[in-house]
Amino acid sequence: MSESTSISREDKLRHLVKSKGRKAVTALTAYDYAVARIIDEAGIDIILVGDSLGMMVFGHEDTTKVTVSMMKHHVAACRNGVARSILVADMPYRSYEDDQTAIATATELVSAGADAVKLEGGKAILSQINAILDKGIAVFGHIGMLPQQVVEEGGYKKKGKSDIEAANLLADAAELDKAGVSAIILENIVGNLAKEITEMTTAPTIGIGSGKSCDGQILVINDLLGSYPWFCPSFAKPKANFASDTTQAVRAFIDEVENLNRE
Ligand code: KIV
Repeated sequence: MSESTSISREDKLRHLVKSKGRKAVTALTAYDYAVARIIDEAGIDIILVGDSLGMMVFGHEDTTKVTVSMMKHHVAACRNGVARSILVADMPYRSYEDDQTAIATATELVSAGADAVKLEGGKAILSQINAILDKGIAVFGHIGMLPQQVVEEGGYKKKGKSDIEAANLLADAAELDKAGVSAIILENIVGNLAKEITEMTTAPTIGIGSGKSCDGQILVINDLLGSYPWFCPSFAKPKANFASDTTQAVRAFIDEVENLNRE
């Protein structure tokens, strides 16, 4: 188990908000102990146990089959590897339908080891966000393209192209900021709108597919490592070749074992 630093969770979260405009925020997903520990020790600011684990770990088509118990399992695994980063847990699909359910889910994820929880949506889930914050649990917002709504929306689409969509996203960001979230993920939002939101909020914005003007950037770890070769979003630039390196290593092992002199 990784030894935790003496900086409290509250101080880390305060420091994150204060870093806005001073230091770029870096964030990656992780789903298990080894990866969480490696990226924590490499210096990443935030580790998100994303519900993208539905696709990356379980091979599902989208995030909608992820449950609270699946999330707890992976949060607990990552917690053991994280000493200094902020560990954030996604609240899965339909686990925050009302205030009481939202509080129960957030409490379970924090008990499993999360420093903060993340929910998808703005004004529509403000009541749940406030209910969680009132319990002293830190919240990360997430607006723009919301993967948990992919089935309802019929696919993954860029957000903020029309005036009405842009106005709604600005209003969502303003409400989340006023509520006191620790950061806001901006997913797949047109670049100039992401910039406008970033200039407006006191909480740092962390972009994914939303241009370079956000306060920081987040990526699914598999897209950084090249470990999910069946799909990689166009904005992600893999910096390793995990899938092909693994294939090569496995073939070398097969070859070595098959050619062992067993006498
Ligand atoms: O589940 C996830 O991985 C996410 C991000 C990539 C933002 O929500």
